[in-house]
Amino acid sequence: MTPGVTRRIGIDLAPIDLAVPGQRQWLAAFNDLDDAIVEAVLLLKQKASFRLVAGDVIEMLEPLIADVPRDELPVIMHSFMTVQFTTEARAALDAALNRIGAKRDLAVITLENELTSNKPVELWLRTYRGGHATNQCLARCQYPLDVGEWLEWLGPAD
Ligand SMILES: C[S@@+](CC[C@H](N)C(=O)[O-])C[C@H]1O[C@@H](n2cnc3c(N)ncnc32)[C@H](O)[C@@H]1O
Repeated sequence: MTPGVTRRIGIDLAPIDLAVPGQRQWLAAFNDLDDAIVEAVLLLKQKASFRLVAGDVIEMLEPLIADVPRDELPVIMHSFMTVQFTTEARAALDAALNRIGAKRDLAVITLENELTSNKPVELWLRTYRGGHATNQCLARCQYPLDVGEWLEWLGPAD
């Protein structure tokens, strides 16, 4: 049986507040989204309950995960975030994940790429079990995403 989601927490340096005039339009413009997609996102946001925290993930991740009860598995997901990181920030995030993963089981799902390259975007799963980390590339797809002509699934078939 698939375990349920008990809580959702989002961290962003500058979360968008859709109640502030202009921010919704900014979101749509930045991501080149049409109105139907923005409406769908807003609907999803209304239905899903989550806590949004403003701040630097490198500083906030460990204290936030420390608050997650031990019988819950934290799943950390980020997409196109580390593309904005310096090499040092990437290493710091990695170190924070390794420290957390040394203390408790953890799953990390990433969809990232180098913005300056035309390499495919990769979806990776890293799991920590008993302090041991394993990495698996689950899928690759064409970059830029809006072209989206191909996607290759590399993970388990079921
Ligand atoms: C290119 S956007 C990607 C947004 C979204 N994850 C997506 O895939 O469409 C990068 C996001 O990462 C956030 N970000 C960058 N550095 C961060 C940091 N150190 N801590 C938290 N958020 C950060 C930015 O504020 C921005 O919202």
